[in-house]
Amino acid sequence: MTLHMPRKHLQFDFSQASVTCYFNTPFAAIEKLTDPDKAVLITDEHVFAKHRKKFRGWNTIVLKPGEQYKIQATVDVIIEQLIALGADRNSFLVGIGGGVVTDITGYVAGIYMRGVRFGLVPTSLLAMVDAAIGGKNGIDVGVYKNMVGLIRQPDWLLFDVDFLRTLPLPEWRNGLAEIIKHAAIRDAALFRFLQQHTIASLKRQPALLSKLIRTNVLIKMKIVTADEFEKGDRKLLNFGHTLGHAIENQYELSHGEAISIGMTYAALFSSSVNNFNDAEAVIALLKKYGLPTRASFDWKKVEQVLAMDKKKSAAGMQYIVLKKLGKAIVHPIPVQHLITRLKELN
Ligand SMILES: NC(=O)c1ccc[n+]([C@@H]2O[C@H](COP(=O)([O-])OP(=O)(O)OC[C@H]3O[C@@H](n4cnc5c(N)ncnc54)[C@H](O)[C@@H]3O)[C@@H](O)[C@H]2O)c1
Repeated sequence: MTLHMPRKHLQFDFSQASVTCYFNTPFAAIEKLTDPDKAVLITDEHVFAKHRKKFRGWNTIVLKPGEQYKIQATVDVIIEQLIALGADRNSFLVGIGGGVVTDITGYVAGIYMRGVRFGLVPTSLLAMVDAAIGGKNGIDVGVYKNMVGLIRQPDWLLFDVDFLRTLPLPEWRNGLAEIIKHAAIRDAALFRFLQQHTIASLKRQPALLSKLIRTNVLIKMKIVTADEFEKGDRKLLNFGHTLGHAIENQYELSHGEAISIGMTYAALFSSSVNNFNDAEAVIALLKKYGLPTRASFDWKKVEQVLAMDKKKSAAGMQYIVLKKLGKAIVHPIPVQHLITRLKELN
């Protein structure tokens, strides 16, 4: 990555909206982005407990933390509190938290009084580089993740790495799995950068960490603004996610761990179909960031999940493979063939 000082804010245009990203910007700046009298902040108990001071003086709704609360009952709680606070169509919601908070805030903003404006302050590495970007939001229904939701962009996103001081190590790994994915599919220079650093070295250098986040926001924003409705390149973001999703729920792996295993198989598969030469480098990088590359799982169950995968088309799976580091392509393949080939890589 280059070392010149980049611009602090950038605007990204979608068909229906523009999103401004404020990089490396202290949280306190939200005062300039929204009127405190109209704003309602939404966060979770973990973020609130660790960053209490930041919320002082703001109307704040504090949610129970975790994926198990990304459900309709939480939406109802938020809506009841918004009503109690007198929130109206001119109110402005700010979601401050990991992907659960940013997804749910975007969803509530989309439906409260038929839609109010909102901004997001992602506080987990995963939310900064992935979940908060692209306008997809929503909630889970039973075992079905993200079953209900909207695509709707926030007015702005603010990135303050100070939040990451308190992020637990497993959550760093979750975020790094997506960062490694971005590097593998889009950015060989980022891949080399990651080879030269560690979580500890990034934590010690907030300015470098800010740049890393900016680079990853740009990668995802570029892909999603060019392909808002997942007709083309947005599919490339599914690298490692086909198998990853199929094993995530069954084996109680975190999302990052599951896609790390998914990326390992996808990289090895890429060697066999595409003469991809760097599968071992991908695997070594995942290991370097404390991510697993193997797990024993039940292929029958994997097959059942893949057969139901919502991203499946008539040609079968739209499996994402690497041509070289930084370049991914779609490889259509029938589900059964894919399973047979992946099993051979065991
Ligand atoms: N909308 C999208 O495009 C998209 C993309 C990827 C993931 N997601 C969603 O994102 C969610 C996962 O996001 P996540 O990994 O951030 O999960 P999360 O929101 O559950 O956060 C992980 C944990 O970290 C804690 N946390 C967050 N920031 C913290 C901080 N600064 N200090 C201390 N603790 C902190 C949270 O309280 C939680 O316990 C999933 O629901 C997933 O579906 C959405």
